[in-house]
Amino acid sequence: MKLLLSSVAFAAFGATAAFAQTVGFSQIGSESGWRAAETTLTRQQAEERGIDLKFSDAQQKQENQIAAIRSFIAQGVDAILLAPVVATGWDSVLEEAQEAEIPVVLLDRQVDSDPSLYLTAVGSDLVHEGEVAGQWLVDAVGGKECRVVELQGTTGSSPAIDRKTGFEQGISGADNIEIVRSQTGDFTRAQGKEVMESFLQAEGGGADICALYAHNDDMAVGAIQAIKEAGLKPGEDILIVSIDAVPDIFQAMAAGEANATVELTPNMAGPAFDALAAYMADGTEPEKFIQTESKLYTQDDDPAGEYERRKDLGY
Ligand code: AHR
Repeated sequence: MKLLLSSVAFAAFGATAAFAQTVGFSQIGSESGWRAAETTLTRQQAEERGIDLKFSDAQQKQENQIAAIRSFIAQGVDAILLAPVVATGWDSVLEEAQEAEIPVVLLDRQVDSDPSLYLTAVGSDLVHEGEVAGQWLVDAVGGKECRVVELQGTTGSSPAIDRKTGFEQGISGADNIEIVRSQTGDFTRAQGKEVMESFLQAEGGGADICALYAHNDDMAVGAIQAIKEAGLKPGEDILIVSIDAVPDIFQAMAAGEANATVELTPNMAGPAFDALAAYMADGTEPEKFIQTESKLYTQDDDPAGEYERRKDLGY
């Protein structure tokens, strides 16, 4: 039965080339340091494998991603990598790719389409990331009352939805911790700073805020700037926990201005290309979800060293 299912899927995506020679990559944009690193690594991984990567930057717009996928289909690429900006609205274009027998691999974000419409998805457990951040805060504050402000990622994106859910689960047993404000900062440094400024203003100049949870490090870095400009000490007066593990957050941690981050590897393309290679060689069907690791780093984990180790990796 398993063999039968595999060959049906193989036929559905029609793996005709022995390996993927030309791959289209629809990238969201360049909203964060993490995103830049993912783009760099995808290019590197393609080059190492002799793959001609056709890159398209959607500048945060789903319609640009849909147009890019249609253009990849028209060009007859062997496979498509898609980092979907939001979770909904992909059914039609994924069906078009399937009709054209081109396998699609999702990178780092999820969609709400039927899984039969894509070959596999490479990414982290986004709910778990939020949960780890929440549990860190529970441990860090002990029984102390803690009013939290939250900077959400792009509205409608799977990391914004799941990291919120996960954090709420992480703090759910702690009655002393309450999220008092929550707004999107669109995963960017500039909006992280701007929204944090409004949080500070609304919360007694920051005196009423115990901690910031940011859905990515870039927004945390922007918020750190806002906190400093408000005359407070980030990392002390306001605890900071975020997600990604980019070099700049380690620099802030080394300076005592941030407290914890949950790592998201930017190397999604390596496992994606491996899965595609096996699939195109003999129809080996990958798992529907190829999960990458999520590791918590705190100020005790040699942040200065982590900064040095990561600073030249394309972030
Ligand atoms: O989808 C992954 C998220 O998107 C990263 O955490 C964030 O930095 C990026 O922009």
